Amino acid sequence: MAFPVQRPRRLRRTEGLRRMVRETTLQPSDFIYPLFVIEGRGERRPVPSMPGIFNLSVDAAVEEAKAARSLGVPAVIVFGIPDRKDAEGSRAYAADGIVQRALRELKSAVPELQLVADVCLCEYTDHGHCGVVARGEVQNDATLPLLARMAVTCAQAGADIVAPSDMMDGRVRAIRRALDESGLAETPVLAYSAKYASGFYGPFREAAQSTPQFGDRRGYQMDPGNVREALKEVALDLEEGADVVMVKPALAYLDVIARVKERFDVPVAAYNVSGEFSMLKAAARAGWVDGDRLMLEILTSIKRAGADLILTYHALEAARLLGG
Ligand code: PBG
Repeated sequence: MAFPVQRPRRLRRTEGLRRMVRETTLQPSDFIYPLFVIEGRGERRPVPSMPGIFNLSVDAAVEEAKAARSLGVPAVIVFGIPDRKDAEGSRAYAADGIVQRALRELKSAVPELQLVADVCLCEYTDHGHCGVVARGEVQNDATLPLLARMAVTCAQAGADIVAPSDMMDGRVRAIRRALDESGLAETPVLAYSAKYASGFYGPFREAAQSTPQFGDRRGYQMDPGNVREALKEVALDLEEGADVVMVKPALAYLDVIARVKERFDVPVAAYNVSGEFSMLKAAARAGWVDGDRLMLEILTSIKRAGADLILTYHALEAARLLGG
């Protein structure tokens, strides 16, 4: 039975009707808000390429976390930017490192907010790579114990979830074991499973001061042409003990999100990364697009593709628009 009996426009005529049949709706509880934490006090330094995003000292991060909570955003992901960097990224896994201190303060100031710790060495190494380097290459197996130590020290400091973003093989297993052996069997792992070697991370590397000093990340992050390999990465991470898997970036990889969602029965996260954010902000500032409208449309598309959780720099402004 088709036209004239079928008239799909009937259900589009008014906002009241559209609202009743909308298949995907956003809520503040869908979002995880990234925080970049630096040393010092009272610091709120704008990130030039990311309007509205700041490098925050711990006290300012606490204020930002309170804002997130009051808007109904349930979680933040914390990135640490240390004062000193070295070849082994030793400030990544020091009990008194910047990220551990931030987690401790955030947990005591805003206990009901869920704290995700990004586990990776790139903000802490002087060469800017995500693992230890020897003979000009990132060494997979030598990096694993360092990531495991970082995960444990972050969980001990108050992280509710640890999120490895380094793309070393076997890191989920190493982290799961180390957590279990440290009495942290209840701490979930959110794995950046399908993380692509992407040009969309440019502004983040400015925000987190983590640009590689030589070469690039193509030897460990995924090739943008691959989707079968993304499914393999997800399967391996689940075998190793991941609780939640992530696809990153989001917007240029919606098909990957959809495929992962279809294949696996676990929560799927997607990272609406810095370049996606900055592109939209730049176009909106130029007056070329309606920034708020595009923001909600993009976030809806990520959720519609299958993401249960969306890491996004838009979290607070989107929550505000959604009435959080
Ligand atoms: C690595 C990490 C990166 C991002 C999150 N975790 C950067 C990278 O791989 O270079 C990127 C996030 C973004 O672009 O918003 N610790």
